[in-house]
Amino acid sequence: MLLREKNNEGFPEDSACVSVSLFDMLSSLSTALDLIDIELIDHHNRVCYIATKLAIHLQFEPEQINEIFMAAMVHDIGAIVFSDRLGLNNFEVENAHLHGELGALLLSRFDLFQEFSPLVRFHHVPWENGAGNYAFGEAVPSGIHILHLADRISVLIDRRNPVLSQASTINRKISSQSGKQFSPAFVEAFLEVSREDAFWLDLMSPSIERVIQKISCLPRARLSLESLTSLSHFFALIIDTRSRFTATHSSGVACSAMELGIVMGMSEFDSSKIRIAGYLHDLGKLAVSDAILLKPGKLSNEEWLIMRAHPYYTYRILERVEGLEDITFWASNHHEELGGGGYPFGTEADNLSLGARTMAVADVFTALAEDRPYRDGMNKEETHKVFQEMIKKEKLDKDVVEALYDNYKNINESRKSAQEQELITLSEFWDCAEEKAGYVS
Ligand SMILES: [Fe+2]
Ligand SMILES: [Fe+2]
Ligand SMILES: [Fe+2]
Repeated sequence: MLLREKNNEGFPEDSACVSVSLFDMLSSLSTALDLIDIELIDHHNRVCYIATKLAIHLQFEPEQINEIFMAAMVHDIGAIVFSDRLGLNNFEVENAHLHGELGALLLSRFDLFQEFSPLVRFHHVPWENGAGNYAFGEAVPSGIHILHLADRISVLIDRRNPVLSQASTINRKISSQSGKQFSPAFVEAFLEVSREDAFWLDLMSPSIERVIQKISCLPRARLSLESLTSLSHFFALIIDTRSRFTATHSSGVACSAMELGIVMGMSEFDSSKIRIAGYLHDLGKLAVSDAILLKPGKLSNEEWLIMRAHPYYTYRILERVEGLEDITFWASNHHEELGGGGYPFGTEADNLSLGARTMAVADVFTALAEDRPYRDGMNKEETHKVFQEMIKKEKLDKDVVEALYDNYKNINESRKSAQEQELITLSEFWDCAEEKAGYVS
């Protein structure tokens, strides 16, 4: 199992692997989730801090501590599915189990995350004098009760007031639920751990990320390109599941970018990496509200300004993963233009690498050629016309566009079938999510 393979032991020494830290990966995912709702900022980090401190204090096995740490970092991931319908920040949460179920469903799509998905699935199961050892007829891991407690402590804190002045009220409130909502042994551990002011001050520290990085024992992982592709596809699912109008866009861009990379003479390694960048390029759209993202018509000026921040957030999310520098650059520069008029960095031609230029063409091509609910995708002649205009205005690279039209049939067919395949995957996911929403309440 990967978590035992510290110091990269057991990984093949093969250049088609990328070495990334599990902490970086989860931290980028949790940053992405925080973007969805301003109220959620640092919620995942805080729950991770409390849960890990409790698990260490209770002398859980190192492997269990790692699983609790990872689960806490992304425990509310299910809230992105039907994000308009789920409210998470009240002490009493409606539909609490649903986002756990949906989170576990999402996490089960990627093998590294599958292992701790039961913790996420049941993180709102109350203790109820031990009845909470089971949920929906299944035995549940004890770590869920640590997560549940940590989550509820975190939402009780009012971030506008000094935390030390709230400590005793929170302790009383949590104690009053000992044996009911929360396991008495875990409440006891919390009361002991929270005796120190430093516990509370760490918890509300603006540098909480550094605090939890210090207590993290997660190893570095050497991921094969295949595994990294599967992880980025997982991230794409998170983006795409929010936007049914452009649901398969990330997959279309990933496929066109890879095909274009190959015809532009990129190595096999780099063309696989640009496919990954394609999956990730719109990750920053998690910072854009559903109302804007799902608006079928033209965006207002104000809405457009919010929308155009998305490649900046793509950069902010990905830059924290050491080892993915090329991918981060290609993904976050997809709206830059050769003449320097793009966004968010205004990068000019001299600094736009072949990967970034290829990504920009793949993005525009996919956006024009794919079907949208309010219009059919454009045909070859129509897209060609748009591209010629963009080349004239120094927006896109002429050579990359020419390579696209020299290989139009192949690239377009691959894109189309990648998007059709993705639609099947997403439809299955949504059906499953709807079904869960029907029976869990
Ligand atoms: Fe939750
Ligand atoms: Fe939560
Ligand atoms: Fe974009």
